Amino acid sequence: MTLAETEQLREKQQTEIDISKTIESRRSFGQFATPAQLANEIAVTTIPYLHKKSLDILEPSTGTGSFVSAFLRHAGERVTRITAIELDPDLFTAGTRLWSSFPVDYRNVDFTTAEPNALFDLVVANPPYVRHHVLEAERKRQLQRAVFSETGKWISGLAGLYCYFLLLSLKWMMQGALGVWLIPSEWMSVNYGEAIRSFFIKSVRLLKVHKFDASDVRFSDALVSSSVIWFRKDSPGGSADFMRGISLQTPDFSKTIPVAHLGSKGKWLPPVASGASSANAQLKDFFTIRRGIATGDNTFLCCPKPKRMSAISPPNISSRFF
Ligand SMILES: C[S@@+](CC[C@H](N)C(=O)[O-])C[C@H]1O[C@@H](n2cnc3c(N)ncnc32)[C@H](O)[C@@H]1O
Repeated sequence: MTLAETEQLREKQQTEIDISKTIESRRSFGQFATPAQLANEIAVTTIPYLHKKSLDILEPSTGTGSFVSAFLRHAGERVTRITAIELDPDLFTAGTRLWSSFPVDYRNVDFTTAEPNALFDLVVANPPYVRHHVLEAERKRQLQRAVFSETGKWISGLAGLYCYFLLLSLKWMMQGALGVWLIPSEWMSVNYGEAIRSFFIKSVRLLKVHKFDASDVRFSDALVSSSVIWFRKDSPGGSADFMRGISLQTPDFSKTIPVAHLGSKGKWLPPVASGASSANAQLKDFFTIRRGIATGDNTFLCCPKPKRMSAISPPNISSRFF
């Protein structure tokens, strides 16, 4: 079978497998496949970062192989081998059969406990978005210990499974290797994302972060707003591109920020689209809003209504998003 025929069959089998499972079961394993068009877009935008002529690729949670297909299509002649890890026996069996005539090795193991059989030039992943309360306490402790011993970072117990996948991937990457991760964008703005933000500031070289709009229909079944991150296993520092919009190739907004300006404790608020105007901007675009701060001095804080509201211009926040 040609690559195009295999891809057609893969999409059909992915749908059949999705239908055969309950939504609860899919949620508990984080089984939401990457749409083919998005996997292709990610492959195309990744190619400029790949400098080696031959590529040994790892996909730590492969499913039926959306990324396998996209990278064979866009970088096929450079791909030496793709190691495809998948825990679910149904997806493992389907993937093994589908890609049997391509340079793809499926392994039916748990990525979080597996040991590297090799080091890779590229790790590309859409890891399982399993929420923390679905993870059993003992498993969470094992994951926290494993991440700590690999990276020296302690992940909050509130973090989802994808955070552990991301940090554990470092030991599978050779020096200079590229990591490309499609993950929920909440790591930028929640307290439990601190270990991830710190990882991108201190452990690797962050290259680019693209945040999709929350309304992007491509992610409707996973019900999350998503981001794609490109980083290199290299000395930290330099500058990273922050982008936002529906398209990876033509983002609505883009800004290059020195990594030294980013802090792991503070939230990385998503950049406000350059087109935000007083007509469509919301208060949350400009301020972090919290409830319940007692002032003790309302006469100071509660000002009389200004006479002409139009005289007040919005603050210039374009230079301090983070
Ligand atoms: C979000 S899906 C992505 C599938 C595929 N990478 C794609 O992009 O279409 C995550 C996949 O990880 C698998 N998975 C869940 N836990 C895993 C684990 N501990 N080790 C390896 N794979 C796992 C799920 O069965 C599922 O196929």
